[in-house]
Amino acid sequence: MSLKNNILDLRKRKEEIKKGGGEEAIEKQAQMGKLTARERILAILDENSFHEYDIFVEHSARDFGMEAKVLHGDGVIIGTGTIYNKPVCIFAQDFTVAGGSLGLMHAQKITKIMDHSLKMRVPLIGINDSGGARIQEGVNSLAGYGEIFFRNTLASGVIPQISVILGPCAGGAVYSPALTDFVFVVENISKMFITGPSVIKSVLGEDISMEDLGGARVHAEITGNAHFYAANEQECFEQIKKLITYIPWNNEQKPQPFPAKPPKKVKVEKIVPSDPKLPYDMRDIIKAITDGSDFFEIMEHFAPNILIGFGRMEGETVGFVANQPMVLAGVLDTDSSDKAARFIRFCDAFNIPIVTLEDLPGYLPGVDQEHSGVIRHGAKILYAYSEATVPKITVILRKAYGGGYIAMNSRHLRADFVFAWPTAEIAVMGPEGAANIVFRKEIMEAEDPEAMRQQKIQEYKEKFANPYVAAAKGYIDEVIEPEETRSRILHALKVSKNKNISMPVKKHGIPPF
Ligand code: HXC
Repeated sequence: MSLKNNILDLRKRKEEIKKGGGEEAIEKQAQMGKLTARERILAILDENSFHEYDIFVEHSARDFGMEAKVLHGDGVIIGTGTIYNKPVCIFAQDFTVAGGSLGLMHAQKITKIMDHSLKMRVPLIGINDSGGARIQEGVNSLAGYGEIFFRNTLASGVIPQISVILGPCAGGAVYSPALTDFVFVVENISKMFITGPSVIKSVLGEDISMEDLGGARVHAEITGNAHFYAANEQECFEQIKKLITYIPWNNEQKPQPFPAKPPKKVKVEKIVPSDPKLPYDMRDIIKAITDGSDFFEIMEHFAPNILIGFGRMEGETVGFVANQPMVLAGVLDTDSSDKAARFIRFCDAFNIPIVTLEDLPGYLPGVDQEHSGVIRHGAKILYAYSEATVPKITVILRKAYGGGYIAMNSRHLRADFVFAWPTAEIAVMGPEGAANIVFRKEIMEAEDPEAMRQQKIQEYKEKFANPYVAAAKGYIDEVIEPEETRSRILHALKVSKNKNISMPVKKHGIPPF
């Protein structure tokens, strides 16, 4: 065959494989609002940047009639490309080919691109759309998952790992996304569960739809498995691309700086009501201090009593952790502790300074919380802040009571800079609670107990519910005017740029997982 004919033959072969599972299966995907695996990759990556590998890989199964089946690409596409000119490794399961089920060769393609991403120190994006372990391939499929989970763990903290759930992600398959740093879900399309509705029906006799069991909203709002929620695939791809701009290629680099941009002009002290019982939206404070007033929120719908996300200050990425007084007065509880702790560890692993904005009455009391493990979960945030060695800056706006004061990146957990507004109340507990306990006898015995109670509350407020007791001990570095918040943080970030501390030598710590 001439070279020209060889080339034509190659093109024909590739075109055939690119048809995936065929027109009918592709049409079924489209009817569900789903793009094909190839369309997804092309929509995420820069134009003409995708380079595919292993397109000719064939499955090796020989049982249950598999020997007669042709599965194009074995149901998964792998390759490399760029996003805003930044290299990434990517794979996308193709549901049109045997339901994107994972057999031996399918798994080997995925692990090959995972190995590349770790070797080349570039982010990994995995698009999951699969019926799970390929039933006909038995233990080989399970082995494939094990190999993927192992690599997810190896790569954790070295390269950013992103999982996109764009179809079913059933059974043990869910554990690869769960081991990665960011999970993206899309309304009506994403389905994640260990045991599906039919198993639940046969074992427990309960009827539940796939959507109610493990749909996008369930994971964005209830389980906390998902970090980003989108209404459709295109919105999801925009979110992925935006995330990539905030994070570094790997743990040896810093995120790429952007041109500095001032925030919109707002008076920060006008956002926070002087009555400490009144709520406000902490997002407004974050937006008042970030470049261009931009805050890229993560896990927006889960544990909304704490806010986490990225912003930029003078062009540099900053990770924000902030109590949200609008929800449960911003208390820490099991879910918000989990949410913040994992984010703090991400920032620490990837050289992103952490700014903590504090206004909380402490940990949430109650039997429900105690029995849900608020001790175990609450310890995670203490651990995460304590072990983080990136620059850590705290601003206390109003309340900083009890365990909440310690947990929210206090000096005692080695914050580098702690600032407090003059409205800060740093104390063991709120004035009401404190007065009721400390002056119980005087209040009970008083002629007018309510008047006495109010008097004691006032006394306590004047003595302890302010920033000056902590400032006198050096626990906070400076009481600042609210208007100075951005400039103080900016300066703190500037002087912390070359921060270099190390932890005691150990194999690894044992966080309260
Ligand atoms: C082999 C599979 C498959 C699988 C789907 N297919 N899942 N083939 N192994 N696990 C095939 C179907 O036979 C069908 O082939 C094609 O993919 C499309 O599937 P449909 O069922 O027609 O699609 P749909 O109606 O959209 O339903 C999707 C689904 C359903 C909900 C995902 O396919 C399903 O329930 N699959 C099984 C899910 C599951 O239990 N997986 C195993 C989990 S256990 P044809 O040829 O007809 O087009 C597991 C263990 C891993 O994953 C443990 C790791 C630690």
